[in-house]
Amino acid sequence: MSVQVPTQSPPRLEVRNLYRQYGNRTVVDDVSLSIEPGQVTCLLGPSGCGKSTTLRMIAGVDMQDRGEIYVDGKLICDTVYRVPPERRKIGLMFQDFALFPHMSVADNVAFGLKDSAPKKRLRVEELMEKVGLSWAIDQAPHHLSGGEQQRVALARALAPRPRIMLMDEPFSGLDNRLRDDIRDETLALLKDEDTAVLLVTHEPEEALRMADEIALMRDGRIVQQGSPYNIYNAPVDREAMAFFSDINIIRGTSNGALTDTPFGQFLTPGCAEGAAVEIVIRPQHLHLDFDRAGQGPAPTAAHGQAALGIVERARFMGTESLVEFRMDYDNSKLKATVPNVFMPKPGMRFWLTLRRDRCFVFPEKAK
Ligand SMILES: Nc1ncnc2c1ncn2[C@@H]1O[C@H](COP(=O)(O)OP(=O)(O)O)[C@@H](O)[C@H]1O
Ligand SMILES: [Mg+2]
Repeated sequence: MSVQVPTQSPPRLEVRNLYRQYGNRTVVDDVSLSIEPGQVTCLLGPSGCGKSTTLRMIAGVDMQDRGEIYVDGKLICDTVYRVPPERRKIGLMFQDFALFPHMSVADNVAFGLKDSAPKKRLRVEELMEKVGLSWAIDQAPHHLSGGEQQRVALARALAPRPRIMLMDEPFSGLDNRLRDDIRDETLALLKDEDTAVLLVTHEPEEALRMADEIALMRDGRIVQQGSPYNIYNAPVDREAMAFFSDINIIRGTSNGALTDTPFGQFLTPGCAEGAAVEIVIRPQHLHLDFDRAGQGPAPTAAHGQAALGIVERARFMGTESLVEFRMDYDNSKLKATVPNVFMPKPGMRFWLTLRRDRCFVFPEKAK
Protein backbone atom coordinates (compact mmCIF):
# COMPACT_ATOMS: atom_id res chain seq x y z
CA MET A 1 0.00 0.00 0.00
CA SER A 2 1.39 3.37 -0.88
CA VAL A 3 0.94 6.30 1.41
CA GLN A 4 0.13 9.63 -0.15
CA VAL A 5 2.20 12.33 1.41
CA PRO A 6 0.72 15.76 0.75
CA THR A 7 3.26 17.86 -1.08
CA GLN A 8 3.87 21.01 0.84
CA SER A 9 5.55 23.87 -0.91
CA PRO A 10 8.04 25.91 1.08
CA PRO A 11 7.11 29.46 2.11
CA ARG A 12 7.73 32.17 -0.47
CA LEU A 13 9.99 34.01 1.98
CA GLU A 14 11.64 32.51 4.99
CA VAL A 15 14.01 34.30 7.31
CA ARG A 16 15.80 32.25 9.93
CA ASN A 17 17.49 33.65 13.03
CA LEU A 18 18.70 36.91 11.58
CA TYR A 19 21.13 39.02 13.61
CA ARG A 20 22.68 42.39 12.88
CA GLN A 21 24.99 44.47 15.02
CA TYR A 22 26.11 48.04 14.53
CA GLY A 23 29.20 48.69 16.65
CA ASN A 24 28.46 46.62 19.71
CA ARG A 25 24.71 47.22 19.61
CA THR A 26 22.48 44.40 18.40
CA VAL A 27 19.72 46.07 16.37
CA VAL A 28 18.25 42.89 14.86
CA ASP A 29 18.19 40.11 17.39
CA ASP A 30 17.18 36.62 16.27
CA VAL A 31 14.42 37.56 13.83
CA SER A 32 12.59 34.68 12.10
CA LEU A 33 9.66 35.06 9.72
CA SER A 34 7.92 33.17 6.98
CA ILE A 35 5.45 34.48 4.43
CA GLU A 36 3.28 32.63 1.90
CA PRO A 37 2.37 33.96 -1.59
CA GLY A 38 -0.58 36.36 -1.45
CA GLN A 39 0.03 37.02 2.24
CA VAL A 40 0.83 40.31 3.88
CA THR A 41 2.97 40.27 6.99
CA CYS A 42 3.45 43.55 8.82
CA LEU A 43 6.60 44.15 10.75
CA LEU A 44 5.24 46.54 13.34
CA GLY A 45 7.15 48.38 16.02
CA PRO A 46 8.29 51.77 17.28
CA SER A 47 10.83 53.84 15.42
CA GLY A 48 14.37 52.51 15.82
CA CYS A 49 13.44 48.93 16.73
CA GLY A 50 15.19 47.42 13.70
CA LYS A 51 12.42 47.09 11.08
CA SER A 52 14.21 48.78 8.18
CA THR A 53 17.45 46.99 8.96
CA THR A 54 15.60 43.67 8.70
CA LEU A 55 14.12 44.71 5.38
CA ARG A 56 17.47 45.86 4.02
CA MET A 57 19.04 42.50 4.78
CA ILE A 58 16.23 40.68 2.97
CA ALA A 59 16.64 43.04 0.01
CA GLY A 60 20.36 42.33 0.03
CA VAL A 61 21.57 45.90 0.53
CA ASP A 62 22.74 45.15 4.06
CA MET A 63 24.37 41.94 5.29
CA GLN A 64 23.38 39.99 8.39
CA ASP A 65 25.98 38.85 10.92
CA ARG A 66 24.14 35.55 11.37
CA GLY A 67 21.09 33.84 9.93
CA GLU A 68 19.72 32.72 6.59
CA ILE A 69 17.20 33.94 4.04
CA TYR A 70 15.31 31.58 1.73
CA VAL A 71 13.04 32.30 -1.23
CA ASP A 72 10.78 29.42 -2.29
CA GLY A 73 12.92 27.11 -0.19
CA LYS A 74 16.17 28.13 -1.90
CA LEU A 75 18.92 29.75 0.11
CA ILE A 76 19.61 33.25 -1.19
CA CYS A 77 21.78 34.52 1.61
CA ASP A 78 23.70 33.36 4.63
CA THR A 79 26.97 34.69 5.95
CA VAL A 80 28.99 33.07 3.15
CA TYR A 81 26.72 32.72 0.14
CA ARG A 82 24.94 35.76 -1.22
CA VAL A 83 22.67 36.30 -4.21
CA PRO A 84 23.04 39.95 -5.29
CA PRO A 85 20.01 42.23 -4.71
CA GLU A 86 19.07 42.53 -8.39
CA ARG A 87 18.79 38.73 -8.73
CA ARG A 88 16.57 38.17 -5.71
CA LYS A 89 13.26 38.85 -7.51
CA ILE A 90 12.31 41.21 -4.76
CA GLY A 91 10.32 44.40 -5.37
CA LEU A 92 10.90 47.43 -3.19
CA MET A 93 8.71 50.31 -2.22
CA PHE A 94 9.63 53.07 0.20
CA GLN A 95 8.03 56.21 1.52
CA ASP A 96 10.12 58.55 -0.58
CA PHE A 97 9.63 56.70 -3.83
CA ALA A 98 10.48 58.84 -6.84
CA LEU A 99 9.22 58.44 -10.37
CA PHE A 100 11.60 59.38 -13.15
CA PRO A 101 10.37 62.88 -14.01
CA HIS A 102 11.59 62.89 -17.62
CA MET A 103 9.82 59.62 -18.50
CA SER A 104 6.15 59.02 -19.18
CA VAL A 105 4.11 57.03 -16.69
CA ALA A 106 4.24 54.02 -19.06
CA ASP A 107 8.04 54.20 -19.32
CA ASN A 108 8.31 54.46 -15.56
CA VAL A 109 6.24 51.31 -15.09
CA ALA A 110 8.14 49.45 -17.85
CA PHE A 111 11.52 50.47 -16.42
CA GLY A 112 12.50 47.12 -14.90
CA LEU A 113 11.08 44.97 -17.72
CA LYS A 114 13.33 43.15 -20.17
CA ASP A 115 10.63 41.89 -22.58
CA SER A 116 9.95 42.98 -26.14
CA ALA A 117 8.23 46.33 -26.58
CA PRO A 118 4.74 44.89 -27.26
CA LYS A 119 5.00 42.57 -24.24
CA LYS A 120 6.12 45.45 -22.07
CA ARG A 121 3.18 47.52 -23.24
CA LEU A 122 0.74 44.74 -22.41
CA ARG A 123 2.08 44.38 -18.88
CA VAL A 124 2.03 48.14 -18.36
CA GLU A 125 -1.56 48.35 -19.61
CA GLU A 126 -2.62 45.50 -17.36
CA LEU A 127 -1.10 47.12 -14.29
CA MET A 128 -2.37 50.61 -15.07
CA GLU A 129 -5.83 49.17 -15.33
CA LYS A 130 -5.43 47.39 -12.01
CA VAL A 131 -4.39 50.61 -10.27
CA GLY A 132 -7.21 52.50 -11.99
CA LEU A 133 -4.94 54.78 -13.98
CA SER A 134 -5.38 53.65 -17.58
CA TRP A 135 -6.18 57.22 -18.54
CA ALA A 136 -2.78 58.43 -17.27
CA ILE A 137 -0.59 55.95 -19.09
CA ASP A 138 1.01 58.45 -21.46
CA GLN A 139 1.08 61.40 -19.09
CA ALA A 140 4.14 62.88 -17.43
CA PRO A 141 4.40 61.98 -13.74
CA HIS A 142 4.10 65.60 -12.55
CA HIS A 143 0.58 65.75 -13.98
CA LEU A 144 -0.55 63.23 -11.37
CA SER A 145 -1.50 63.79 -7.75
CA GLY A 146 0.57 62.37 -4.88
CA GLY A 147 -1.75 59.42 -4.47
CA GLU A 148 -1.74 58.67 -8.19
CA GLN A 149 2.05 58.83 -8.31
CA GLN A 150 2.11 56.39 -5.43
CA ARG A 151 0.00 53.96 -7.43
CA VAL A 152 2.32 54.31 -10.43
CA ALA A 153 5.28 53.55 -8.16
CA LEU A 154 3.49 50.44 -6.95
CA ALA A 155 2.79 49.37 -10.52
CA ARG A 156 6.45 49.93 -11.37
CA ALA A 157 7.58 47.79 -8.44
CA LEU A 158 5.18 45.00 -9.40
CA ALA A 159 5.81 45.06 -13.15
CA PRO A 160 8.65 42.48 -13.17
CA ARG A 161 6.43 40.12 -11.10
CA PRO A 162 8.58 40.07 -7.99
CA ARG A 163 8.27 36.96 -5.80
CA ILE A 164 8.34 39.22 -2.78
CA MET A 165 7.45 42.86 -2.15
CA LEU A 166 9.21 44.72 0.63
CA MET A 167 7.47 47.92 1.62
CA ASP A 168 8.95 50.34 4.14
CA GLU A 169 6.38 52.79 5.52
CA PRO A 170 5.08 53.31 1.98
CA PHE A 171 2.00 55.30 2.97
CA SER A 172 3.41 57.72 5.51
CA GLY A 173 3.98 60.46 2.93
CA LEU A 174 0.30 60.58 1.98
CA ASP A 175 -2.33 62.71 3.63
CA ASN A 176 -4.90 60.99 5.80
CA ARG A 177 -7.88 61.36 3.55
CA LEU A 178 -6.13 59.51 0.72
CA ARG A 179 -4.39 56.94 2.77
CA ASP A 180 -7.21 54.53 3.61
CA ASP A 181 -8.30 54.24 -0.02
CA ILE A 182 -4.76 53.75 -1.26
CA ARG A 183 -4.06 51.14 1.40
CA ASP A 184 -7.13 49.18 0.35
CA GLU A 185 -6.37 49.44 -3.37
CA THR A 186 -2.75 48.48 -2.78
CA LEU A 187 -3.78 45.47 -0.77
CA ALA A 188 -6.19 44.31 -3.46
CA LEU A 189 -3.49 44.59 -6.11
CA LEU A 190 -0.87 42.78 -4.03
CA LYS A 191 -3.27 39.91 -3.40
CA ASP A 192 -4.16 39.80 -7.06
CA GLU A 193 -0.50 39.55 -8.07
CA ASP A 194 0.03 36.74 -5.54
CA THR A 195 3.26 38.16 -4.22
CA ALA A 196 4.38 37.72 -0.61
CA VAL A 197 4.49 41.08 1.11
CA LEU A 198 6.54 42.26 4.05
CA LEU A 199 5.26 45.68 5.05
CA VAL A 200 7.07 47.74 7.65
CA THR A 201 5.11 50.23 9.68
CA HIS A 202 5.12 51.93 13.07
CA GLU A 203 1.38 52.55 12.91
CA PRO A 204 -0.79 49.94 14.61
CA GLU A 205 -3.92 50.95 12.68
CA GLU A 206 -2.10 50.37 9.41
CA ALA A 207 -0.94 46.93 10.50
CA LEU A 208 -4.38 45.93 11.78
CA ARG A 209 -5.95 47.08 8.54
CA MET A 210 -3.53 45.50 6.11
CA ALA A 211 -1.90 42.46 7.66
CA ASP A 212 -2.77 38.80 7.48
CA GLU A 213 -0.11 38.42 10.11
CA ILE A 214 1.58 40.93 12.39
CA ALA A 215 5.08 40.50 13.75
CA LEU A 216 5.39 42.87 16.66
CA MET A 217 8.96 44.05 17.08
CA ARG A 218 10.67 45.69 20.02
CA ASP A 219 14.39 46.37 20.58
CA GLY A 220 15.39 44.19 17.64
CA ARG A 221 13.28 41.19 18.66
CA ILE A 222 9.94 39.88 17.50
CA VAL A 223 7.97 39.73 20.74
CA GLN A 224 4.71 38.41 19.32
CA GLN A 225 3.50 37.10 15.99
CA GLY A 226 -0.04 36.28 14.91
CA SER A 227 -3.20 37.45 13.21
CA PRO A 228 -4.27 41.05 13.90
CA TYR A 229 -7.20 39.68 15.90
CA ASN A 230 -4.98 37.62 18.15
CA ILE A 231 -2.32 40.24 18.58
CA TYR A 232 -4.95 42.76 19.63
CA ASN A 233 -7.01 40.44 21.80
CA ALA A 234 -4.32 38.29 23.36
CA PRO A 235 -1.30 40.56 23.91
CA VAL A 236 1.80 38.89 25.37
CA ASP A 237 2.52 41.69 27.78
CA ARG A 238 1.43 45.12 28.88
CA GLU A 239 3.67 46.90 26.39
CA ALA A 240 2.26 44.89 23.49
CA MET A 241 -1.23 45.83 24.63
CA ALA A 242 -0.33 49.51 25.07
CA PHE A 243 1.10 49.67 21.56
CA PHE A 244 -2.42 49.39 20.13
CA SER A 245 -4.50 51.53 22.50
CA ASP A 246 -4.71 53.41 25.76
CA ILE A 247 -4.71 51.09 28.73
CA ASN A 248 -5.73 51.21 32.38
CA ILE A 249 -3.75 49.45 35.08
CA ILE A 250 -5.24 48.24 38.34
CA ARG A 251 -2.62 46.99 40.77
CA GLY A 252 -2.86 44.30 43.40
CA THR A 253 -0.91 41.58 45.18
CA SER A 254 -1.23 37.89 44.41
CA ASN A 255 -2.41 35.80 47.31
CA GLY A 256 -3.15 32.11 46.85
CA ALA A 257 -3.61 32.49 43.05
CA LEU A 258 -6.08 35.33 43.66
CA THR A 259 -5.62 39.07 43.57
CA ASP A 260 -7.93 41.44 45.44
CA THR A 261 -8.72 44.75 43.77
CA PRO A 262 -11.31 47.46 44.29
CA PHE A 263 -13.18 45.74 41.43
CA GLY A 264 -13.30 42.40 43.21
CA GLN A 265 -11.13 39.33 43.13
CA PHE A 266 -9.28 38.16 40.05
CA LEU A 267 -7.85 34.76 39.37
CA THR A 268 -4.11 35.20 38.93
CA PRO A 269 -2.71 31.72 38.51
CA GLY A 270 0.99 31.52 37.78
CA CYS A 271 1.79 34.69 39.72
CA ALA A 272 4.15 34.08 42.64
CA GLU A 273 2.73 34.40 46.13
CA GLY A 274 3.00 38.03 47.22
CA ALA A 275 3.95 39.16 43.70
CA ALA A 276 2.77 42.52 42.40
CA VAL A 277 0.11 41.96 39.74
CA GLU A 278 -1.29 44.26 37.10
CA ILE A 279 -4.82 43.87 35.85
CA VAL A 280 -4.88 45.71 32.53
CA ILE A 281 -7.96 46.79 30.61
CA ARG A 282 -8.67 49.01 27.63
CA PRO A 283 -10.83 52.13 28.09
CA GLN A 284 -13.63 50.73 25.92
CA HIS A 285 -14.14 47.85 28.32
CA LEU A 286 -14.97 49.89 31.40
CA HIS A 287 -18.63 50.20 32.15
CA LEU A 288 -20.22 53.26 33.80
CA ASP A 289 -23.24 53.26 36.03
CA PHE A 290 -25.12 56.08 37.74
CA ASP A 291 -25.37 56.34 41.49
CA ARG A 292 -29.18 55.93 41.45
CA ALA A 293 -29.68 58.38 44.33
CA GLY A 294 -27.27 56.59 46.62
CA GLN A 295 -28.44 53.09 45.79
CA GLY A 296 -25.28 52.36 43.88
CA PRO A 297 -24.99 50.36 40.69
CA ALA A 298 -27.03 47.38 39.65
CA PRO A 299 -24.48 44.57 40.15
CA THR A 300 -23.97 41.90 37.51
CA ALA A 301 -21.93 38.75 37.73
CA ALA A 302 -20.05 39.59 34.55
CA HIS A 303 -18.93 42.98 35.82
CA GLY A 304 -18.14 42.08 39.44
CA GLN A 305 -17.67 44.70 42.07
CA ALA A 306 -18.07 48.42 41.29
CA ALA A 307 -15.81 51.27 42.42
CA LEU A 308 -16.66 54.96 42.65
CA GLY A 309 -14.90 57.61 40.64
CA ILE A 310 -15.31 61.28 39.87
CA VAL A 311 -15.10 62.72 36.35
CA GLU A 312 -12.01 64.87 35.96
CA ARG A 313 -12.17 65.50 32.26
CA ALA A 314 -14.25 64.43 29.29
CA ARG A 315 -13.10 64.86 25.73
CA PHE A 316 -15.22 64.60 22.62
CA MET A 317 -13.37 62.44 20.09
CA GLY A 318 -15.85 61.98 17.25
CA THR A 319 -17.38 58.53 17.39
CA GLU A 320 -16.78 58.34 21.12
CA SER A 321 -15.84 60.40 24.16
CA LEU A 322 -12.91 59.73 26.42
CA VAL A 323 -13.70 60.25 30.10
CA GLU A 324 -10.99 60.45 32.73
CA PHE A 325 -11.88 59.45 36.26
CA ARG A 326 -10.15 60.03 39.58
CA MET A 327 -10.91 56.94 41.61
CA ASP A 328 -12.03 57.16 45.23
CA TYR A 329 -10.12 54.05 46.33
CA ASP A 330 -6.60 55.37 45.82
CA ASN A 331 -6.85 58.58 43.78
CA SER A 332 -5.52 56.83 40.69
CA LYS A 333 -6.78 57.72 37.23
CA LEU A 334 -8.83 55.49 34.95
CA LYS A 335 -9.95 56.23 31.41
CA ALA A 336 -13.19 55.03 29.88
CA THR A 337 -14.59 55.54 26.40
CA VAL A 338 -18.30 56.04 26.01
CA PRO A 339 -20.53 56.64 22.97
CA ASN A 340 -20.24 60.23 21.83
CA VAL A 341 -23.80 61.24 22.69
CA PHE A 342 -22.84 60.96 26.33
CA MET A 343 -20.58 63.70 27.70
CA PRO A 344 -20.47 63.69 31.50
CA LYS A 345 -19.41 66.91 33.24
CA PRO A 346 -16.35 67.19 35.48
CA GLY A 347 -17.33 66.56 39.08
CA MET A 348 -20.01 63.98 38.29
CA ARG A 349 -19.67 60.69 40.16
CA PHE A 350 -20.07 57.26 38.60
CA TRP A 351 -19.69 53.65 39.57
CA LEU A 352 -17.19 51.90 37.35
CA THR A 353 -17.06 48.20 36.60
CA LEU A 354 -14.73 46.19 34.39
CA ARG A 355 -15.63 43.74 31.67
CA ARG A 356 -13.87 40.90 33.37
CA ASP A 357 -13.51 38.88 30.15
CA ARG A 358 -11.52 41.80 28.72
CA CYS A 359 -9.07 42.09 31.57
CA PHE A 360 -5.50 40.88 31.18
CA VAL A 361 -3.40 39.76 34.09
CA PHE A 362 0.32 40.46 33.86
CA PRO A 363 2.90 40.05 36.60
CA GLU A 364 4.25 43.54 37.24
CA LYS A 365 7.48 44.24 35.37
CA ALA A 366 10.62 44.48 37.45
CA LYS A 367 11.67 48.13 37.53
N1 LIG B 1 24.08 51.88 9.08
C1 LIG B 1 23.87 52.01 10.40
N2 LIG B 1 24.89 52.23 11.25
C2 LIG B 1 24.70 52.35 12.58
N3 LIG B 1 23.50 52.26 13.18
C3 LIG B 1 22.43 52.06 12.39
C4 LIG B 1 22.55 51.91 10.97
N4 LIG B 1 21.31 51.72 10.45
C5 LIG B 1 20.47 51.73 11.50
N5 LIG B 1 21.12 51.93 12.65
C6 LIG B 1 20.52 51.94 14.00
O1 LIG B 1 19.85 50.71 14.19
C7 LIG B 1 18.64 50.89 14.88
C8 LIG B 1 17.49 50.32 14.07
O2 LIG B 1 17.30 51.12 12.91
P1 LIG B 1 16.16 50.84 11.86
O3 LIG B 1 16.25 49.43 11.41
O4 LIG B 1 16.24 51.90 10.82
O5 LIG B 1 14.85 51.04 12.76
P2 LIG B 1 13.30 51.24 12.30
O6 LIG B 1 13.21 51.03 10.84
O7 LIG B 1 12.56 50.24 13.11
O8 LIG B 1 12.95 52.63 12.71
C9 LIG B 1 18.50 52.38 15.12
O9 LIG B 1 18.91 52.66 16.43
C10 LIG B 1 19.45 52.99 14.12
O10 LIG B 1 19.94 54.20 14.60
MG1 LIG C 1 12.58 52.43 9.39
